Amino acid sequence: MDNNFHTEVLVIGSGVAGLLIAELLSAEKNVTVITRSELGRSNSRLAQGGIAAVTTEDDSWADHFFDTIQAGVFHNNDELTELLVKKGGERVKQLIEMGVAFDRNMDGSYSRCREGAHRKPRILHAGGDATGKELMDTLIKRVKKSCMIIEHHTAADLLVEKGVCAGAWFMGEEGKLLTVKADYVILATGGAGQLYPITSNDASVTGDGIAMAFRAGATVSDLEFMQFHPTMYAGKGASPFLISEAVRGEGGRLVTSSGQRLMEGKHDLLDLAPRDVVSRAIAEERSLVYLDTSSVSNFNDRFPTIASYLNLDDASSKRVPVQPGAHFLMGGVETDRYGRTTVANLFAIGEVANTGVHGANRLASNSLLEAVVFANESATWVLNHTPIQQDVSVTFQPLHIPISMPAASMIRSMMSDYVGITRHAAGLTTAINELGFYLKGRKKPASSVEEVTVYNMLQTSWLMATSAHMRTESRGGHHRLDFPQSKQRFQQKRITRRIFEDEWITTEKKSRAVF
Ligand code: SIN
Repeated sequence: MDNNFHTEVLVIGSGVAGLLIAELLSAEKNVTVITRSELGRSNSRLAQGGIAAVTTEDDSWADHFFDTIQAGVFHNNDELTELLVKKGGERVKQLIEMGVAFDRNMDGSYSRCREGAHRKPRILHAGGDATGKELMDTLIKRVKKSCMIIEHHTAADLLVEKGVCAGAWFMGEEGKLLTVKADYVILATGGAGQLYPITSNDASVTGDGIAMAFRAGATVSDLEFMQFHPTMYAGKGASPFLISEAVRGEGGRLVTSSGQRLMEGKHDLLDLAPRDVVSRAIAEERSLVYLDTSSVSNFNDRFPTIASYLNLDDASSKRVPVQPGAHFLMGGVETDRYGRTTVANLFAIGEVANTGVHGANRLASNSLLEAVVFANESATWVLNHTPIQQDVSVTFQPLHIPISMPAASMIRSMMSDYVGITRHAAGLTTAINELGFYLKGRKKPASSVEEVTVYNMLQTSWLMATSAHMRTESRGGHHRLDFPQSKQRFQQKRITRRIFEDEWITTEKKSRAVF
């Protein structure tokens, strides 16, 4: 492979959003997909629950819209949320036509389940609890034939000159450099779950898309809103593993160690309350909380992936210990309907983007929906426009990182202790000072994938901590112990961040909460 080439469209990341846009564009454009590990590795592959969409007569886009904005604590972008839920049925049909085999009932109709904060059973799933895998396998088969795929290359930085993106450069496994120029760059790198020690996210999801876009001058926003999934398996010595909310949708109940129902008296929707409410309830309980699966019929058939992980012969009699884990970042690189960021020719789709459709707390199974809806919207834009003119001389510039950097585990502890399920000013200030101490240090050019990764983790963590410090209220995935109520003056207000003249450590002063 040439270490310097041009492609019409460069997709960075290989989850459902990235692979779908690659496939949609490939009939008319030359598309290159570059991913930091193997093609199949992403959060999308791990998605168990399914894809939420209105596909029955007794459901309506208005109901799906209302459930989405209520879970999002009315922080959602209403216009794009309406688009999201109205396009659901059409996009599910597109996936079926591409070959995705959603599960069916005995009578041949599609099987639909309920998850937290949905008032209707509208979640289509595949392979029981392996929806993400089914979508990914279908898309991988297609893109392998239609696009150029480069694995094991980590994006280090975007090539940007005068506000116009012209490509990106990458590091291979032995630090080998690859520079790719492109008419359009699509960031599809996922969120930031790996900034926390307990997470449902794939090991590759370390917040790099947000850090890169920020360094490139793009606006990032809503970074204080991190969703913690209530039910990560908490067995002794276990590696983190998600137990789908669909288990509670099928009758699973959270109970305390003395067998009392945890959610009684805490929310009208009990175990299916929004995730932020359930996660806080678990975190506030002093002893272990269990997921009682005795009311779930046919557990092993309905949830084969979970049953095999838990190694249960008969899950119906089990109580499974659970704890919350970092799951989904609502904020990200700010985009419009077409995935366009504030940097010309740079698009963001999937979890790395902030379209505003999730508000302060994402509704369950709306993330695959967002990925497919906005991959289509962005593809439509790219196919019908010409790129903004680029500076052809723009070239690789080394990425300067602090000489002294912390261990990734230190960043994760800091985020968990101070920017976790609950936050307060003193803790946030500690995190900001500690993370900022490293960022302010003397710099040297990055020489390994590990250095680039830790630098991105540091920058994204600092942005999240400072954003959380600025929002002096509680809303959805951002809960301040010192400001426990939502405030009217923060409703629909976004904390947006943008770098100025590379003095990025001072951006907290220069960033603004837009009122
Ligand atoms: C789950 O299956 O509980 C996760 C699905 C989602 O986050 O939408």
